Amino acid sequence: MSQGIVRTAIFPVAGLGTRFLPATKATPKELLPVLDTPLIQYAIDEARAAGVERMIFVSHPSKSAIERHVLDDVDLRATLRKRGKARLDRALKSAAIDEDVHDVIFVMQPEPLGLGHAVLCARDHVLPGPVAVILPDDLILGPKGCLSEMIAAYPTCDSGHLVATMDVPRDEVSSYGVLSVLSRNGAVIKADGMVEKPTADAAPSTFAVVGRYVLDSTIFDALAGQAPGVGGEIQLTDAIAAGVLDIGLSGLTFSAIRFDCGSKQGMLAAELHLAQQDPAFDAVLDKFAKSWSDAIAGQTIPLAHRNGRATASAIAFPSG
Ligand code: UTP
Repeated sequence: MSQGIVRTAIFPVAGLGTRFLPATKATPKELLPVLDTPLIQYAIDEARAAGVERMIFVSHPSKSAIERHVLDDVDLRATLRKRGKARLDRALKSAAIDEDVHDVIFVMQPEPLGLGHAVLCARDHVLPGPVAVILPDDLILGPKGCLSEMIAAYPTCDSGHLVATMDVPRDEVSSYGVLSVLSRNGAVIKADGMVEKPTADAAPSTFAVVGRYVLDSTIFDALAGQAPGVGGEIQLTDAIAAGVLDIGLSGLTFSAIRFDCGSKQGMLAAELHLAQQDPAFDAVLDKFAKSWSDAIAGQTIPLAHRNGRATASAIAFPSG
């Protein structure tokens, strides 16, 4: 494999996934499926398409099922072949990471001390050069993989740190890290700072950072010296913001659609988005569409929806 600019992808997967309890009591959030494919699989496919050589999973001992999913299971595939399920055998083989092609490393984060801390746990295993960080619960779907787009833009953006960003409604900024915007050149935004989860009034812009990063390798020194921030956690945002003057920070407004699959609404939206593209789901989607149009025609919309507690905006696709 020829060497790319970004040779390492880090997947932080050690979080508690509290928003999906009880589903995540025994099943890692990163293995929750969107239709039939676990979130982590989409992230791995995106990293492979972007040409990384090494994938580092920062996990927790209680989440060993992630390792079982990520690596090839030759016994299971042999059983499938014996049962005449050759197509499934091939699909599982191509989904698993081929260790002859990619290095796969699992490191443990003993306690979920924050995203920044999880990234720091990977420090001793990264290859030279900038590193990619992929948050699997941000599902980003489109013809061009988000990480591929970022790596293509990286040499032109004149910053050591490049983050994926999208313009969000101002009343949603408090859920994100938010860029302080200096200038914009096409899809690339030059920033002079980044604030974690600001209030709507205090937010420096509405450009929210989502779960893809290409980071200069100095990020590890910054993280090592980082005091706990919002929520008592070591925040990746703070370490990125600390390097703004020396390292530089840009955001890429990527072209694909992003779903916040760390939330139930985002997960449902992602499922509907993919189901709409597969005729196998036409009948079930038609049935729901019909019951909704009947309900609207007869004004029998459930109270919760009329109150706006579960309005369509809650499941509307976030803009890419
Ligand atoms: P989130 O904050 O969205 O995940 O982190 P969470 O904490 O697991 O979920 P909730 O908020 O309790 O529902 C984004 C990604 O970072 C990882 C998570 O596993 C997820 O993939 N993460 C987060 C870590 O690896 N370690 C941490 O300390 C925190």
